[in-house]
Amino acid sequence: MNTQPLDTAAAESLLAFWRDAGVDACFEDAPVDRTHVAPTPSVKAVAKATASIGAAPVQASGDAIAEARRLAAGAETLEALGLAIAGFTGCPLSGMGATQSVFSRGNPEGDLLVIGEGPGADEDAQGKPFVGKAGQLLDRMLDAAGLGERAFITNTVFWRPPGNRTPTPVEQTICAPFVERAFALLQPKAVLLLGAAASKSVLSTDEGIMRLRGQWKEWRLPEGAVSAPVMPTLHPAFLLRTPMAKKAAWADLLALAARLDEA
Ligand code: URA
Repeated sequence: MNTQPLDTAAAESLLAFWRDAGVDACFEDAPVDRTHVAPTPSVKAVAKATASIGAAPVQASGDAIAEARRLAAGAETLEALGLAIAGFTGCPLSGMGATQSVFSRGNPEGDLLVIGEGPGADEDAQGKPFVGKAGQLLDRMLDAAGLGERAFITNTVFWRPPGNRTPTPVEQTICAPFVERAFALLQPKAVLLLGAAASKSVLSTDEGIMRLRGQWKEWRLPEGAVSAPVMPTLHPAFLLRTPMAKKAAWADLLALAARLDEA
């Protein structure tokens, strides 16, 4: 048995070291393999994604998707959709340290839907997507392309993943009914997908963002009633780390602006 007295100063120092290193959340006791599935926004994909960890998580995810679909379908406005998301407890991320749900900002009458990956620390604190450094760059780029006033901005998941990790395909799949409902309610003329995680989730593809970016795709909801051209581009957080990539992202935004003006 360890009989040494707890050294508070040492414990505080260790916690400060972890915090500075970016460790800002506690995880489960058992490890979770988050690497073994391709993202597909369907119940089938969740079954596949959770197959190796037993029947109970499959059932839980299936139930969460069904509940998300029910709540999303009942929301008649984007505002009501935000409230429905705030009351939804089926996404595992909502119980992993996020302080609140983060749904949207921007123009609810806009003709451009912008979808990012998921909230970070600034977004979690303010309850709005893209309000940190990456968001400021996004705003500058949208404004410069004449798209700032036209954009409604959201994410593939609505709670901050612990430690700012990428959301898993299962978490994205559980939140997908809300993303799809936002698309259906806004009926945008075009959609801008920011980064690999958003592009793979919305387009149900495994293709890398460097191949996807700059290529027009189509997003059509299963019912067929809503569709729009989609432009995948590089995530602004990546652009902050890799300024040379800004040129490519700028070309994508100009193509998007031109297409919106045609429409
Ligand atoms: N990155 C995202 O993908 N979304 C946000 O809301 C903030 C940063």
